[in-house]
Amino acid sequence: MKKDIRPTAQSDIIKSKGGYPHFMLKEIHEQPSVITNILNTYINQTTGHVTLPDEILFLSTVPRIIISACGTALHAGMVAEYWLEQIACIPVETDTATEFRTREAPMSSDGAALFISQSGETLDTLEALRYAKRKDQKIVSLLNTTESTIERESHHIIHTLAGSEVSVASTKAFTAQLTTLACISVGLARKKNVISESREKQLTSALRKLPSRITDFLKHDEKIRSLASEISKARGVMYLGRGTAYPIALEGALKLKETSYIPAEGYTSGEMRHGPIALIDNDMPVIMIAPFDDLFDKTVSNTKEIVKRSGKVLFISDKRGIEKLKDIATWTIEVPEVDPFVAPILYTLPVQLLAYYTAVVKGTDIDQSRNLMKSVTVE
Ligand code: AGP
Repeated sequence: MKKDIRPTAQSDIIKSKGGYPHFMLKEIHEQPSVITNILNTYINQTTGHVTLPDEILFLSTVPRIIISACGTALHAGMVAEYWLEQIACIPVETDTATEFRTREAPMSSDGAALFISQSGETLDTLEALRYAKRKDQKIVSLLNTTESTIERESHHIIHTLAGSEVSVASTKAFTAQLTTLACISVGLARKKNVISESREKQLTSALRKLPSRITDFLKHDEKIRSLASEISKARGVMYLGRGTAYPIALEGALKLKETSYIPAEGYTSGEMRHGPIALIDNDMPVIMIAPFDDLFDKTVSNTKEIVKRSGKVLFISDKRGIEKLKDIATWTIEVPEVDPFVAPILYTLPVQLLAYYTAVVKGTDIDQSRNLMKSVTVE
């Protein structure tokens, strides 16, 4: 008997690379339009106010939000922890779902838990959600797919609107998660009355400038291509960042591991002195994610320490930052100037491209990293 074919929201998985050699590169280049789409959904173009769906506004009143996820989605949650605490004054605890589901964390019954997943099917994230639900948490999930198991088991859903992501190494889903979480942080801050109208406008205007900044940056990736051959020779790579740049350091290291199979680790720049500094030598490039923000001077001092120990530093910053360190850093990548609030979104682009082009040099199977699945539905 012929079965009816029911179109679903996933029916747009038409596997076309659109002229790009790999889905990963195509998805990297889709980011300006994905971000624009999200901003048009949440930010009123005339007033600059953020409008969130009513059903998640209760998050502004909870005593604490637990954020849990795996891999790249966890890194998005870690950035959101800074935003929700600093902008919306909401206490947040972030944990990897693989640990959260088993560590038996106590929680008060009036709390909320936010789960982030591109696929909506990651088993560890689902089990963490079930644990939080048993502890009477209100469950909000940030998902890129529709009709998933996590969607069915959550109380409230926000979709990240990135469209289908084919490459196992997640790129556009990550910046879509970040952009959505940025809007949520500003919207909850406003609801809670902890930011002024002018500050809200300043933050939303920074967000709205992002797509064009990213488009400009994507047009000039020649330098990253040439640096990729340097990185491809490394026996290991260290990524460092502070504040919201720290999760981007983790994400950069994850992307490089997944696509190039080069051992790579991310640390907070401050943690470097507590152990990782022992790894530094001429064969271990250090990638500094260094937005020109309040923490920049500390990053400069870390960079000098690395150079003193014969380390090679790839310094990623804007014109002002690079001006200060161009004589010390081994290599630089210049990104456009942006408000520090949106820096984690913009600074994701160079680390994605560096991982991609390094994988091209290494000749790996970029879209289907070895041993990995797009969605991990087993333990
Ligand atoms: C990302 O590049 C990875 N492939 C992986 O870490 C992924 O983010 C993780 O497995 C979580 O997947 P999810 O977002 O579908 O839950």
